[in-house]
Amino acid sequence: MEKKEELYSIFNKLDEQHKNILSVINVINEACINKESRDRVIELIYSLDKYVMEHFKDEEYLAEELDFFKTEYLKDEHDYFKGIYYKLCSHYNYDKNDKSNTYYSLFSVYLVQTMLDWLDFHIKTIDKDLMEFVKSELAI
Ligand SMILES: [Fe+2]
Ligand SMILES: [Fe+2]
Repeated sequence: MEKKEELYSIFNKLDEQHKNILSVINVINEACINKESRDRVIELIYSLDKYVMEHFKDEEYLAEELDFFKTEYLKDEHDYFKGIYYKLCSHYNYDKNDKSNTYYSLFSVYLVQTMLDWLDFHIKTIDKDLMEFVKSELAI
């Protein structure tokens, strides 16, 4: 496949990926608020991993291939999100003998809300800049 076509097909996936990530995080948010079992929340949290990592990889690939002027900033932002995500994972795996789900739910709600706020801001700013840049570079 020609390079431009490859980049174009990756670009075309981004909106759908954003929707999928948002919808999974919203489901996690509901699960935390409703104090669903730890196993259920862990299952949901782990299901987010592949969506997010694939998406970040795609955006960073586009940014690097097209020499986006904010590539390092984009990666830093993604790393910040990963930090929150890993915090949530480790939080849920911490002290599995403690069955008091309330403690876990409260902190999780905070972390998940932070993820939602971050995502909203990130998509409207740096991701938007990247997408505009890709469009102009590929002359879409
Ligand atoms: Fe994105
Ligand atoms: Fe991004």
